[in-house]
This record gives sequence, C-alpha cells and structure tokens, in this order.
Amino acid sequence: MKSNIKKIGVFTSGGDAPGMNAAIRAVVRAGAYYEKTVVGIRSGYDGLLRGDFREMGPRDVSNIIHRGGTILKSARSDEFRTEEGRAKAYENIKAAGIDGLIAIGGDGTFAGAHAFYKEYGIPIIGIPGTIDNDLVGTDYTIGYDTATNTAVNAIDAIRDTASSHDRLFFIEVMGRDAGFIAVRSALATGAEAMLIPEKKTTVDRLLQILEYGTVNKKSSSLVVVAEGANEGSSISLKEEVDRRTNEQYDSKVTILGHLQRGGKPTCFDRILASRMGVLAVEGLMEGQQDVMVGLINRKVRYTTLLTAINGEREIDEELLRVGNILAI
Ligand code: F6P
Repeated sequence: MKSNIKKIGVFTSGGDAPGMNAAIRAVVRAGAYYEKTVVGIRSGYDGLLRGDFREMGPRDVSNIIHRGGTILKSARSDEFRTEEGRAKAYENIKAAGIDGLIAIGGDGTFAGAHAFYKEYGIPIIGIPGTIDNDLVGTDYTIGYDTATNTAVNAIDAIRDTASSHDRLFFIEVMGRDAGFIAVRSALATGAEAMLIPEKKTTVDRLLQILEYGTVNKKSSSLVVVAEGANEGSSISLKEEVDRRTNEQYDSKVTILGHLQRGGKPTCFDRILASRMGVLAVEGLMEGQQDVMVGLINRKVRYTTLLTAINGEREIDEELLRVGNILAI
C-alpha cells in the first residue's frame, strides 16, 4: 500500500474503556507491519500540549490485550478546547514529524479531533472507544460490551439479595446521555423496568409496573436506571416512589458507577479493538481523514467525525418491546 504517512501518533482520550489497550496494541503493531513509525502520546490531548511522545514498537504493547484501562493514560483536556491550546499541540506535532493521528475515544475526543483537523489539516482517524455506545457510524463502540457485561454480573448479584429479602432495587448504570448500557443490561437481567433518556416513563407508569408485579405475586423487583434518565437519578426516584407509596416497598439503591469502566475486556471488545486498530492504520494510509472507523453489520465504514458525534443514534425499539413482554 503506497502512502505519504510515515509517522503516526496514537492517543486515548476522554473516559477510558475496556479494550482501549487492545486498540493501542493493534495500531502499534499494524503500524510496524506497514513499516510506519508509531508514536504513543500520553494522557490524550494534554500529552499533545506537553509534547509527551514516545516511539512504540511491537514489544512495547506485549501483554496488554487483556488489560482494562489504557497504558497511554487518558484525560479530558480543557486547554485543547482553546485555539491557543491547539496551536501549541500543532507545534509539537510538527516538531516531532508526526503526519497522521489516531484518536481513540468518544464524542468529546472526536469534537477536539475535528476542530484540530479543520485548523491544521493533519489527517486524523477516530477509533470509537467509549462504554456509552453513543456514536453514529458503528454498531458497537469499544468497551460497551465489557461494561454491559460488568453491569449484568452486578445486577445478577443484586437480584439474589433482592429476592432473598423481597426488596425493590433501583440500579443506576452509566451511559451519560444515552441508555444503551441500561437497555441491554435490563433485558439480560430480566429487570422489571428500565428508565432511559431516549424514552419517557413517568413515575406513575413505574408505579403501575411495580403494582402489577405485586398483584401478580412478584416478591422483588429490579429497576435499571440510566444515569441520564429523564425521571431523575436513582436516589431521587427511590425517594419519590417511597413517598408516593407510603414506603410500601423495602427499597434500596445501588449505583454501579466507575466499576463499569474497568476490568478485563470481553472477547468481543478485544476483537473489535484489534480490527479497528488495523483498519485505522490502513485508513490513514489510504488517505482517509477527519473520519471515524466503524463496523456496521461487520462491514467497515468510515463516517465523518461530525456525523459520528452529532448524528442521531437510536435505541433498538425491538429490545424495548421484548423487555416489555417478558416483564409480565
Ligand atoms: O463517557 C463515559 C462515562 O463513563 C459516562 O458513562 C459517564 O457519564 C462519564 O464517563 C463519567 O465521567 P468521569 O469519569 O469523568 O466522571
């Protein structure tokens, strides 16, 4: 493959996601395979601003495919949001002779990458790495499958104790403004209800669902609440339900929080990350720029960074329908 790209910079940015290490490994090794120099940039855009660069070869990414987190570290950089910050980053990139970038992250990362591309024209390819799964242009983002499985394991454990004590649990999962983790984890754990940002479920409706369960001899219930749910946080929901039912239910709240962000990536995420890492290097070599690499129905797609972050990503209504039927 003939290409003008000789030196590729790679970084992880924003919230870390399980599988980011597998993606870094794939970029570094694909780069070596195609005889490119690969430079690891530490701590996302902060590393670009500091010139914190280090050449990486295949052995620098040994034994990381199975590890959560990111060996390059991650950050959310305020300075890179400014024109002055991006000018500083450009000077560092020029001085280091980097002629292409691979940014592994989510919407904030890609917004920064697009702004940088527009100002300086450096070819940039994004690899979707976020547990939230909220990007357009790929069926799955790296880390989503692992985070969902982590949530499922935790909710299964809560079901055991909920059932032993005939309790109602509100379990809050991550996802920022998106309900993807909530929908899949609720369906996979047989939760009685889920509250997500993409759909309105009033507290009245939730009370009806709970009441229906009681009448139909359910002794315990699980309600999965996405952190961005319209109806409020898991804590405020519990308080509201307690108040409106005169504490009819023995209710508890569990917020799963950052444990969903760590841990060993699943097989699915390792393979997704490995494929995307190779595809990103090949994409850069083919002249792709200002795009995110994605896989839709297992086929490679490049989507502009702007579309990836601004397009409307829809929840699968079929999953909601099945969840509804099975909560009987
Ligand atoms: O975007 C990933 C994510 O984990 C979201 O699900 C969550 O809202 C946010 O990051 C938490 O960010 P932080 O780690 O900065 O608290």
